[in-house]
Amino acid sequence: MNKPTPAEQICTKFAESLTKGTFARLVLSAPVAAGDTPQKVLGRFIMLKGVPHLSLTLRYATRDVTKNLPVAEGAAWLRGQLDQQFHSALLCTTSRDWQYISNAAGEARLIDHRPSAKKTPSREHDQRHAGILDASARDWLQGLDVLDVAGQVRISMADKHRQINHYLEILTHLAKECGWIGAPGDRPAPALVLADMGCGKGYLTFGIWHLFRRVWQRPVRVIGVETRAELVAKTNKLVCQIGAEGLEFVSGAIESVRLPPVDALIALHACNTATDDALRRGIELGAKLIVVAPCCHRELRPQFGKPAPLAPVLRHGVMEERLAEWVTDGLRALFLEWAGYRTKVMEFVGSEHTPKNLMIAAVRERDGFTDAGARQRIEDLKAYFRIERHALDVLLAPAAVR
Ligand SMILES: C[S@@+](CC[C@H](N)C(=O)[O-])C[C@H]1O[C@@H](n2cnc3c(N)ncnc32)[C@H](O)[C@@H]1O
Repeated sequence: MNKPTPAEQICTKFAESLTKGTFARLVLSAPVAAGDTPQKVLGRFIMLKGVPHLSLTLRYATRDVTKNLPVAEGAAWLRGQLDQQFHSALLCTTSRDWQYISNAAGEARLIDHRPSAKKTPSREHDQRHAGILDASARDWLQGLDVLDVAGQVRISMADKHRQINHYLEILTHLAKECGWIGAPGDRPAPALVLADMGCGKGYLTFGIWHLFRRVWQRPVRVIGVETRAELVAKTNKLVCQIGAEGLEFVSGAIESVRLPPVDALIALHACNTATDDALRRGIELGAKLIVVAPCCHRELRPQFGKPAPLAPVLRHGVMEERLAEWVTDGLRALFLEWAGYRTKVMEFVGSEHTPKNLMIAAVRERDGFTDAGARQRIEDLKAYFRIERHALDVLLAPAAVR
């Protein structure tokens, strides 16, 4: 019989540690592919409704995604990850630690070490830390009816609660990239100015304020902009009730409201080209960080040419609609790159919650409108789909000639 390979050996050790109860943790690292793939996977053992599971945290550059797997599927799952997704795996058990390392040439080895864990971690699911929305967020979450009077998440608001939390996790990653959090310096951090355009009931606006002011204790001015005056009155009332210093809501339109220079500008689910207005304002107001989650996309579809060989597929309305969304948002990312930003396009919430789940995050890295190649990429994509005009062509024209 052939000697088991290092990959087979670590999978066997992994399965044994799960059944014998010696498993402490698993870490997969050194991803095989670049791009929007997890950089790391962290695995721990949990009990979910009395059933043993492996809880996996997939750590992407800007977000974490959690998956739970019945332990019986653990070894087969790990075998599929080794060499296909990751070159390195660390299995920690209470008896021994095992380090698996492979390379692109297919060579692999398994090294064992003294165990780093003397006992197994708690198996309870909800030892998880309360997250960003801890007890200190209770006042505004109750004020927005996300929590009930007892401080419990309302069943009807569970998705919203998860969405706010997830969104704040993404912002945490982005704020780190912008150098806004991290090791405390010896000088007090200057107040940041953040604008939330088309903020609606203010869930995310209160969330950002909470993150900067209460979690990171940074001086901050957060401005929520909303056309509907009744919503602005309501959110400002809540600001007064909870004494949310540095948070304000103003009644106005994304395209024209008076704003100071901002450090970050966000716009989630602003309709149609209101997202483009928000992008233009962010660029003009000098935002280091711009985050948008586009809503409906009506601008490009009527202009859309149907280049062969796509034409027979695009006669299906839904396919044309999806492609129009894809091109609209793809062009938005290219425009931001031309304006000097590094962009990432990612899923913001699971598609089971809303199909409007694409997020474009952009961090300014250089002067804008100088890279002819970046401009050419916009023109090439437009030409391919025979698009005459994208809202950002017009909106960014004045900024581009300055
Ligand atoms: C779909 S809601 C999203 C609310 C919030 N951003 C969120 O994600 O929870 C869109 C909001 O944007 C507001 N809105 C739409 N166009 C706007 C504009 N041009 N200027 C200001 N607010 C606008 C609407 O009144 C609405 O409250």
